[in-house]
Amino acid sequence: MKGLVRADECNAGQIARLFSRAKELKDGGMPLQTPGPVALIFTEPSTRTRISFAEAVHRMGGWTRDLGETGSSLDKGETMEETILNLSAMDFSGVVIRTPIKGLPEEQRALDPSLWIVNAGDGDGEHPTQALGDTFTLMAHGGVEGRRIALVGDVAHSRVAHSLLALWPKLGVQIGVYPHGEGTVDGADTLFSTLEEASEWAEVLYLLRPQVERWAKPLSGKALQKEMAPWRVDTIRPGQFLMAPGPTLPGVDIAKGLLLDSASLILDQVRWGLAGRMALIEELSLG
Ligand code: CP
Repeated sequence: MKGLVRADECNAGQIARLFSRAKELKDGGMPLQTPGPVALIFTEPSTRTRISFAEAVHRMGGWTRDLGETGSSLDKGETMEETILNLSAMDFSGVVIRTPIKGLPEEQRALDPSLWIVNAGDGDGEHPTQALGDTFTLMAHGGVEGRRIALVGDVAHSRVAHSLLALWPKLGVQIGVYPHGEGTVDGADTLFSTLEEASEWAEVLYLLRPQVERWAKPLSGKALQKEMAPWRVDTIRPGQFLMAPGPTLPGVDIAKGLLLDSASLILDQVRWGLAGRMALIEELSLG
């Protein structure tokens, strides 16, 4: 692999191989290759993805440099292209990019074939490593083939949803959606008009927070709670799982306390996200 900017770049064979390595690395296995230096360029907020990439590289014996949300010469108007060429001149092996600009990570790929680029979220485009970690979470909890999963919430603005909708049908997942708001949803098998319908059908409810930062008229506080009430998951059926890429918003998209319910795989997604990124970085480092 030469990088990862879209989830549809992964095929079923690669997913199976990465899952196998992710399991071994999660269980303390030794990396087959120490990664070279990796630069993190995150111009949007992040906890899980940023720390997870940094930890993945560090736990495999490499190191990262984080340009910070502010303070780099991007603030002085330097382009992403020039930034990456400078990192390449300093012999970085890879660059992980989170940006509000859809398509920006993919545009950087042609700059230097020796440098890999991973998309850590580009606007409402994609978030392929979240999709990888979520897939591995499912594989560790009953498998993916034939699984009925309902995406609930702000599907249209969610880059995670776009990556899941690109990847999961290739793995035999059946995807239902109960979407909030306007916007089309490509790739879903079933459309629901209430949370009850979605929940009745789904083996897994997958919550997507309101991406108010992308709304034309952002809401907050009580107005946001009221708007999202029909999409808020308060209960899980026996045997059903709950997933979410995070962050979750207790009282808005999820009932307070549900994050830690035994049916919640949300923190397991974080664990598999880290393991999956280790496996991916190993594969990228091997070339
Ligand atoms: N899931 C996810 O991308 O979370 P962060 O925004 O905290 O990285």
